[in-house]
Amino acid sequence: MPLNTEIVRIDDGCAPLSPSAEALCRAADVLLSGGLVVFPTETVYGLGGLATSATSSRKIYEAKGRPSDNPLIIHIAHPADAERYAITSPCYERLAKAFMPGPLTVILPRRDVIPRETTGGLDTVAVRCPSHPVAHALIEATGAAIAAPSANRSGKPSPTCASHVIDDMDGRVDMIIDGGECDIGLESTIVKIEDEDTVTLLRPGAITYDALCMVVENVTVAPAVLERLGENERPLSPGMKYRHYAPDAPLVLLEGDSDAVLSFLKEEQKRRRCAILCYDEEVEGLDRAGLFPVGPSNDLTSQAKLLFCYLREADRTAPDIIYAHQPKKEGLGLALYNRMIRAAAHTVLHIPSP
Ligand code: TXA
Ligand code: MG
Repeated sequence: MPLNTEIVRIDDGCAPLSPSAEALCRAADVLLSGGLVVFPTETVYGLGGLATSATSSRKIYEAKGRPSDNPLIIHIAHPADAERYAITSPCYERLAKAFMPGPLTVILPRRDVIPRETTGGLDTVAVRCPSHPVAHALIEATGAAIAAPSANRSGKPSPTCASHVIDDMDGRVDMIIDGGECDIGLESTIVKIEDEDTVTLLRPGAITYDALCMVVENVTVAPAVLERLGENERPLSPGMKYRHYAPDAPLVLLEGDSDAVLSFLKEEQKRRRCAILCYDEEVEGLDRAGLFPVGPSNDLTSQAKLLFCYLREADRTAPDIIYAHQPKKEGLGLALYNRMIRAAAHTVLHIPSP
């Protein structure tokens, strides 16, 4: 039976957002009585349920169509609240002081108040303190941690505005809080604390590798961030084994000199129906149909913010193929590369220079 999803609009176009207390109290009541509420964060929208409730977590997996061995992130209002749900350490304190509230998730040993259903059976729990005012106010109003994966149906790009959420989740959740567009557009950076001086980067995000290195002595990048895992390899983070953000049309990443890539795209536009996530400076040189300009080539922030939205929109035009540039693996580019290479199932075309 589909649920009657209530959609609450909180974005009135004014910054900063000031969520109405009445709407938040209702959303908190829904969560506390075991229901599901989708809410905005600074990264992507989250599909929230009470983190301490096994039943709520089961409902999240069902609404998302996600395998229940892929653990959820729990969202807290203040970095110090982590201690209620997990065992923290001086390394956590340093990371929290530097990057929280903000787009960083830290994997810590789990306390028993967090059921195994929430952590996909693991003895660790992923903890994040979002900076978005609506997310923060909702966690405060609930008075407990909120478990929330990205609010997309499993296998779709993460939602960066309420219309994506409505497409995927209408009738599957009790409430959707519309807080406008997410600022960052890619999910949080995830690190696992190995010891006082060492963390493993499990998923790159807006908190970059270089930023982490300023706070922790050794930062190791998990192999699955950059490469395809072998048949029988076990990833450090369960989510890495699933194909993600897959558009319906094949996505192919292009690598090569900018003039060569532009000539290639021009020829391809004559041959078949292409959707192209292009750079702004390429728009003039191409046929306008099927173009999705993601920002200037040097503006990674814009490219991150638009990627998931344009993958969804590109798919809606039912193209034969989707092309995008392969990003450089530096700074925020590493996060873009990680999402795009997986959406493209590692298909990269090298365009030779003439
Ligand atoms: O920005 C974000 O992190 C968003 C917003 C809503 O906060 N959430 C998000 O959640 O991206 P989700 O569920 O789509 O991705 C969480 C990832 C999964 O790949 C999962 O495998 C990994 O985090 N993860 C969660 N708990 C873990 C754990 N205990 N150990 C290793 N990986 C874990
Ligand atoms: Mg996700």
